[in-house]
Amino acid sequence: MIKKYAIANWKMNLSLNDITKWLNNFQYTGNVKVLLAPSYPYLGLIDHTRCSAQNVSVKEQGSHTGETGIFQIKDFCTHCIIGHSERKESKKIVLEKRDLCLNNGVTPIVCLSNPEESYDYYRSGTLLAWEDPKNISVGGVLNQIDINEIKNVIYKMKKALPEEAVLIYGGSVNRQNIPALNNTTLIDGVLVGGASLDPQHFMDIIKVLEK
Ligand code: PGA
Repeated sequence: MIKKYAIANWKMNLSLNDITKWLNNFQYTGNVKVLLAPSYPYLGLIDHTRCSAQNVSVKEQGSHTGETGIFQIKDFCTHCIIGHSERKESKKIVLEKRDLCLNNGVTPIVCLSNPEESYDYYRSGTLLAWEDPKNISVGGVLNQIDINEIKNVIYKMKKALPEEAVLIYGGSVNRQNIPALNNTTLIDGVLVGGASLDPQHFMDIIKVLEK
């Protein structure tokens, strides 16, 4: 049974050589659900059961140069990150992409910034990731006060969502703050950017989630 999720969002980082080395240095078989999200060209390097895309086209198929469709994503991935705040997509687009994933058997990891809207983004089968705008990509800085705030927000979001909803936290998660995050919040896992670029650092986070 999945205990918690550890999702590595590598964003636009890591070359072919870097990813090959990363994978050689990462062996994990425990009960934390690990997902790795590389840039599109490298999806095929990741085991299908662990592979997530970082985005998908809102279009299904056809003449859309530079886009990657859900029918292609699903050849490589079980999951797909949708609506990351760095992409600045409208709610309408995010919801369309969410449904496209669900209709094609890919689990969407739907990112949202405004906790008040969690119910709008939820649909059975989705993973929700609350990305605290204050903590996204700020170089791993997250202090104790923030953790208390995060705890309150997550608690309120959980109350507004159906009991089975999976809620993941994202924003400056690192090996220093994961013990406090894991102890004091009701999070079902973490979406990790910067700290996931180092396999050992990511592993240290996973070990805490196992406890
Ligand atoms: P960060 O990124 O851990 O570097 O803040 C998290 C995210 O944007 O998913």
